[in-house]
Amino acid sequence: MKPTVWHDLKLCTAGDPDDTISDAAIAVEDGRIVWLGTFADLPRDHADWHRESLGGAWVTPGLVDCHTHLVYGGQRADEFAQRLAGVSYEAIAQQGGGIVSTVRATRVADEDTLFRAAIERLEPLLAEGVTAIEIKSGYGLDLVNERKMLRVARLLGERYPVTVYTTFLGAHALPPEFAGRADDYIEEVCTRMLPALADEGLVDAVDVFCERIGFSLSQSEKVFNTAARLGLPVKMHAEQLSNSGGTALAARYGAISADHLEFLDEAGVRAMKAAGTVAVLLPGAYYFIRETQLPPVDLLRKHQVPIAISTDSNPGTSPVTSLLLVMNMGSTLFRLTVPEVLQGVTVHAAQALGRADRHGVLDVGREADFAVWSCASLAELVYWLGRPLCRMVVRGGKVAY
Ligand code: NIG
Ligand code: FE
Repeated sequence: MKPTVWHDLKLCTAGDPDDTISDAAIAVEDGRIVWLGTFADLPRDHADWHRESLGGAWVTPGLVDCHTHLVYGGQRADEFAQRLAGVSYEAIAQQGGGIVSTVRATRVADEDTLFRAAIERLEPLLAEGVTAIEIKSGYGLDLVNERKMLRVARLLGERYPVTVYTTFLGAHALPPEFAGRADDYIEEVCTRMLPALADEGLVDAVDVFCERIGFSLSQSEKVFNTAARLGLPVKMHAEQLSNSGGTALAARYGAISADHLEFLDEAGVRAMKAAGTVAVLLPGAYYFIRETQLPPVDLLRKHQVPIAISTDSNPGTSPVTSLLLVMNMGSTLFRLTVPEVLQGVTVHAAQALGRADRHGVLDVGREADFAVWSCASLAELVYWLGRPLCRMVVRGGKVAY
């Protein structure tokens, strides 16, 4: 089959609104980009290629949502109501609610139920131009149920036009059967759960919730050592509720990302820079738990640490199914600029997955994954709240949405 030339479009190849091509074309063959540039420069011998006009629309790389907990059972609206009545997120967790209540709901759900619940959250993201997504486990907290979550995540990637990266987050919370025995649970994670799931090909990366209400530095380090032995990249939920020094530990293990980071200090920022660790900011969680401590955006800028932003879609701290909304929050709440936000959901988000080679940039030889937008200016992607701006999504050269 002859290549298709998508033309009459304005092209932003890597999320930088100052680096665009105004009358552009993208030629696609067998799902990959074989040529892109100014339409007038399209080689003449390609004149008979199939043409598709996009009517002057903006085109960006497919968006990347690099931190989600999309697969889980139930929801936590009642807990939200409790918080509105004044109970804190940490207090709810200590009373056996919070993450552990989602663990209960996830354990009783079968794969089909989890799959159907997850697609309700996945589809709105895909309709907004997301073509790659990370999905964590962490609501099963035993081998059988962590496996179930990861299998559902993989299945989403097989059934939907999106590349799914799975992250094992066994060290997310202490399961009730290990109450008071956190070290024993970490032992179970390191000797049984993680090796088995990695062996089954269900794990692309390993994450730890390092926090007072999560796991300590030394427990986190044990999980990272196991990941290193298995050849898996690591990342961390770090400095979300307090400064526990997790980021520096994660950086020592060459973490691909450290996420949340509201309480990160300059030493942690330097460690990230030295290790090439991406800072994943999660404005939805900041907003939803009404955090007041802002992540150190100026320090991240000063030390030129790449910033990604993501939905953190989860039932407890960020029940959001719109990356565009979170992009707006990144600018209104964290004062990120439009280029920072756009790079934060393309090139830097891909880097946070360790897959900058595959996502976040449009170029010759890469997969033709792109989003087509109904807007006059790219700043509109950050400006509107709740407006369905995405007109079309092309994945692997085919119209997916
Ligand atoms: O990313 N911080 C820990 N994990 C999730 C919240 C999980 C939950 O409350 O269910 C987060 O914020
Ligand atoms: Fe998270």
